[in-house]
Amino acid sequence: MTAHLLCVDDLGPDGVEAVLKLTDSMVEVGRRDIPKVPALRGRTVVSLFYEDSTRTRLSFETAAKRLSADTMSFSVSTSAVKKGESLRDTVLTIEAMGIDALVVRHASSGVPWQLAAWLAGSGVSVVNAGDGWHEHPTQALLDAYTIRNEHKAGSLEGLRVGIVGDVKHSRVARSNVFCFAMLGASVTLVAPPTLLPASLDGWPCDVAHDLDEVVGELDVCYLLRLQQERMTEALVPSLREYAFSYGLDLARAQRLPAGALVMHPGPINRGVEIAPEVADLPCAVITRQVANGVAVRMAVLFHLLTAPADGEVRLDG
Ligand code: ASP
Ligand code: CP
Repeated sequence: MTAHLLCVDDLGPDGVEAVLKLTDSMVEVGRRDIPKVPALRGRTVVSLFYEDSTRTRLSFETAAKRLSADTMSFSVSTSAVKKGESLRDTVLTIEAMGIDALVVRHASSGVPWQLAAWLAGSGVSVVNAGDGWHEHPTQALLDAYTIRNEHKAGSLEGLRVGIVGDVKHSRVARSNVFCFAMLGASVTLVAPPTLLPASLDGWPCDVAHDLDEVVGELDVCYLLRLQQERMTEALVPSLREYAFSYGLDLARAQRLPAGALVMHPGPINRGVEIAPEVADLPCAVITRQVANGVAVRMAVLFHLLTAPADGEVRLDG
């Protein structure tokens, strides 16, 4: 059966552990003078982005190249989508060229599952690079890896993680809640009621509405951008008021316990969810998240496209 990565649950605890362990090897590759191995030579990885991206798209493409895969990059604005070609016809056209993995981002929730169904039997692996408000599994993996490596605890077990801000429109929040809880963290969503999903049934986390009440106990303060491009109504009184109540300013950052991390998936809006000077503190590991993103995506592609019977990791051919 073709392996896909559509949501964190697809991997389960053992799969998450396997990818995080594999990421250590990929970090080592990234430190070499020539950061490239032949592991995916002859394979083709396509990025199919129907929504804007800087980090996810570039890091998947870098990851594929570091593993010596061939890459194809699809951009809606310069494609035949502009001539009316449907998503299904676009995907079947790309598949006909002979590909191994399709990394997809789309504004509609569920598109990666639809692609996996259309591509059933083709041998193409589908990787979800963010679908609507739903899931962003590789973001969760790179965040979990970053916490393990940057927090002095060396593990998520027992850590208290606060995910602060626009949870309602955030695919990062959902993937992170499930991934962090799977790894033993205790997760609190911190947001006004208007920025929470209508139902949190089945989410393994609790909820707080006052950042000042919880900030002093957070081992990780994970900030979310206000995703205004997905809002159809005014859900916060004003950006100024939002920043005042939920932004991590210097005074709040100073109340975090010693060793706490400040994280953000990016792109950041300095002065809204995070004060400019806080984004540049040593405890803010935002650019390390990005760096780990390349290694995690190498691990994901390797994990999906190679399945050595003996479980041995052979990166150098
Ligand atoms: N880049 C992340 C995403 O695409 C988070 C964000 O855009 O705020 O979900
Ligand atoms: N964090 C994240 O997904 O960033 P991009 O939207 O730039 O890919």
